[in-house]
Amino acid sequence: MTTSNAAAEVRLGILRDVDDVARIWREGWGDAHLGHVPAALVTARTPASFDERARDRVSDTIVATRAGVVAGFVMTDGDQVDQLYLDRSARGGGLGSALLDAAEQAVLAAGHRVAWLAVATGNTGARRFYERHGWIDEGPFVHQAPVPAGSVAVDCHRFVSPRR
Ligand SMILES: CC(C)(COP(=O)(O)OP(=O)(O)OC[C@H]1O[C@@H](n2cnc3c(N)ncnc32)[C@H](O)[C@@H]1OP(=O)(O)O)[C@@H](O)C(=O)NCCC(=O)NCCS
Repeated sequence: MTTSNAAAEVRLGILRDVDDVARIWREGWGDAHLGHVPAALVTARTPASFDERARDRVSDTIVATRAGVVAGFVMTDGDQVDQLYLDRSARGGGLGSALLDAAEQAVLAAGHRVAWLAVATGNTGARRFYERHGWIDEGPFVHQAPVPAGSVAVDCHRFVSPRR
């Protein structure tokens, strides 16, 4: 799977992308979650945890590149669009839309009837982004975010994809 325009390419992730994905994930996770999630989750999300998860999840990862440089990524997990992060310098330029679209297509192409995602309730910028793309806010729920010691409860909203 590869799509491209003059500025960006969206393609499946490969092992060589792992370091870039881990950095973008670590920085973006902080931007999206600090102040909106319990301290226990912040403590669990060490720099090494992003390195490990980026490596473990490379086969579920789709990346967007600009001039060959990874500028953002999305992951899927079954019927879930699981992570969507852009490099700070790439936000506000349409790459988020391309990645969300690619992830939704990947979930549906894998045979799921509908895609869903969880977004932290306090991440209002991302919630507006999903709404602008027609995703349906099915309301609040408590997401159990996995951590090495088990899970941490996080207040989230569940969104479902408009296409099915
Ligand atoms: C959410 C995200 C993937 C959207 O992609 P995008 O291409 O930037 O999409 P948009 O241009 O429509 O911007 C969406 C929101 O991102 C934020 N944003 C946009 N440009 C930004 C920039 N230059 N710097 C910081 N935040 C920015 C804004 O909150 C914006 O919403 P608003 O315009 O209603 O305030 C991307 O902004 C991002 O990586 N954000 C940080 C990580 C995050 O929240 N991920 C989602 C986790 S569920």
